[in-house]
Amino acid sequence: MSNPSPPPSRPNKHDPATLAFQTQTVHSGNQADVGTGAIRTPIIMANSYALPEDPYTLDPDNPDLLVYTRESGANQLALQSKLATLDGGEDAVVLGTGVAALHAMFFTHLNAGDHVIVSDVTYSAVWRLFAELLPVKSGIEATFVDVTDLDAVRAAIRPTTRIIHTEVIANPTVKTADIQALADIAHAEDALLTVDSTCTPPPMFRPLEHGADLVVHSLTKYINGHGDAMGGAVIGPRELILPIKTEAMINVGAAISPFNAWLISRGSITLPLRLRQHLANAQRVAEFLDSDPRVLHVAYPGLPSHPQHQLAKRQFGGQDFGAMIAFALDADHDTRNAFVNSLRLITSAVSLGHDETLIVYEDTPADRAAMFPEVFRTHGLLRLAVGLEDPDDLIADLAAALDTAVPAH
Ligand SMILES: Cc1ncc(COP(=O)(O)O)c(C=O)c1O
Repeated sequence: MSNPSPPPSRPNKHDPATLAFQTQTVHSGNQADVGTGAIRTPIIMANSYALPEDPYTLDPDNPDLLVYTRESGANQLALQSKLATLDGGEDAVVLGTGVAALHAMFFTHLNAGDHVIVSDVTYSAVWRLFAELLPVKSGIEATFVDVTDLDAVRAAIRPTTRIIHTEVIANPTVKTADIQALADIAHAEDALLTVDSTCTPPPMFRPLEHGADLVVHSLTKYINGHGDAMGGAVIGPRELILPIKTEAMINVGAAISPFNAWLISRGSITLPLRLRQHLANAQRVAEFLDSDPRVLHVAYPGLPSHPQHQLAKRQFGGQDFGAMIAFALDADHDTRNAFVNSLRLITSAVSLGHDETLIVYEDTPADRAAMFPEVFRTHGLLRLAVGLEDPDDLIADLAAALDTAVPAH
């Protein structure tokens, strides 16, 4: 008699490999509490954990042991294991903010004399790190390059290039990078591709599956999703994450609080459901803005006018284009402010990926004006981080504010 065929893989909440993404977001990282029987991981607000009778039996090279909360804690470990699962990585490190995670990654994987290629549109703290701080303080050299121009990226490579760093959809201009193409360039030179995927969280995009070596998230944004906790993570192979834990997490010390780690674990349970609404809303709102003659320009990867629309379609599976829109009004500075102040539903505040829709009006930063498309240099940039409201309400609010503030054409 032949062997029976193996049973179909049966979903088991303790084995993420058997679970679909949406099931992973519910169950991964959650452990019932043995002491009380509570079926959710409790918040462990303790700085220290009891040592074994002989502390010398602890493995000094294992940063995941429960000893001291700057090194690891129950809630941090739960979140790390969940994030590694969701992004398809072997391991993860979580820290107090997205910038702490970015800094920890660069601090660990760069040494004096190394060279980095950085996308010319990148989060402002990363810009400042490479334009001003790390060159002076750490002897690290950086070249800012338009990462959508692959020949320019290749031309910027030096024998000392150790990292190419980019955002997938860049904050704030929504320029979109081809992650596999950049990974191929980096790997041909034995460099790492590090990718900030804050604006393209899983399941929309998983950079490790497209050749990235390390992926960073500001957990403050979509992964927590509720605008009430800050955090950051780096995810990737254990051999690249372990040194971030043993060098930066322990010795630089930007630990996340257990409470924030717990909040982010909880917020991330609804990530795929929320993301679906964010993405659908953003497409509707972008199309509305694009149809209004008082709006001079709309940058959104889901519009055919976006320079990387075809790439975005291919890279993100055809329908998902993020939930951040950059647009410019055909109006002067005071009118742009009047428009924002006329909004009655949408809140003027920094950040993105919250449940509520946020808008920021910013002038192009003087030190990097050349990196911004001309229209944003001349007309300022309105960044809309589309939230979870009913899209008709969002469109009605934008339309009413346009009617109030911007003269009809
Ligand atoms: C793309 C991107 N990366 C990193 C960060 C920094 O994250 P945090 O504010 O959590 O430090 C932000 C914040 O806006 C961001 O938009």
